[in-house]
Amino acid sequence: MSTEVLSPFAVWLGLREAADAAARAADLVEAVRGRLPAGGPPTIHDLGSGTGSMLRWLAPRLPGPQRWVLYDRDPELLAHAAAGAVTSADGAPVTVLTRRTDLTRLTAADLADADLVTASALLDMFTADEVERVVAACAGAGRPTLFMISVTGGVRLTPSEPLDAEIAAAFNDHQRRTVGGRRLLGPDAFDATLAAFARHGVPVRTRPSPWRLGPDQAELTAEWFRGWVGAACEQRPELADRAAPYARRRLAEAAAGRLTVVVEHRDLLAG
Ligand SMILES: C[S@@+](CC[C@H](N)C(=O)[O-])C[C@H]1O[C@@H](n2cnc3c(N)ncnc32)[C@H](O)[C@@H]1O
Repeated sequence: MSTEVLSPFAVWLGLREAADAAARAADLVEAVRGRLPAGGPPTIHDLGSGTGSMLRWLAPRLPGPQRWVLYDRDPELLAHAAAGAVTSADGAPVTVLTRRTDLTRLTAADLADADLVTASALLDMFTADEVERVVAACAGAGRPTLFMISVTGGVRLTPSEPLDAEIAAAFNDHQRRTVGGRRLLGPDAFDATLAAFARHGVPVRTRPSPWRLGPDQAELTAEWFRGWVGAACEQRPELADRAAPYARRRLAEAAAGRLTVVVEHRDLLAG
């Protein structure tokens, strides 16, 4: 039995992993397979790996031995990611290296040995300049880039309530807040990434990858909802009086399996 104590953020990543896996645009993997070198183990660089959910999803969908390089600024998440065993589609070994680093300083030289660059649930945490830099690094390395599960701000709750749209708008503004002098792009990061690849002349295909949360995901729905409303009220404290009874109603609906939530994301494959 593992005695590892996970941080709340690692627990959150674990809670969302199955929903992310179900949402990812699996057909993009076909295109990725065709772009990997025929002659040897591909090297795949995963940016902002967290506990390694991209590795666990993609490695078993690719054939043969693979070498993964996981980047994150959080050493505990990297240690967790490197500790798990992963095998390829045909049972071949997958080796995992980690790089504790700040991705806002990523360069093409860092990606020199990459055959594929991946990321998942990362782009919204960057500023406009940082997106430019990361895209410049990927475009400069000249390798295909698979960025999955980027939030785009759209949320649909069923049944709907009048407060849904106000909370969604306040949450999205919270995602665009300025932190330590950095103005985050939040839900605008995906379009900024597309525009940056276009400026580098790199073709991009995109797919929708929404979470569809129903009664089977009641725990994730409740946790997501608490975070969503909490951030909205932090952004607009005047919402708090109306948000409290709203949250109680919504959480009761989720617990009873009567709330479904669609959280929109998009995936892209560049190059
Ligand atoms: C929302 S999590 C997603 C983790 C993982 N890709 C997944 O899908 O479960 C974003 C990750 O990016 C990392 N991250 C965010 N900004 C970073 C930066 N500037 N440099 C390095 N890592 C960063 C965070 O530590 C976190 O692990």
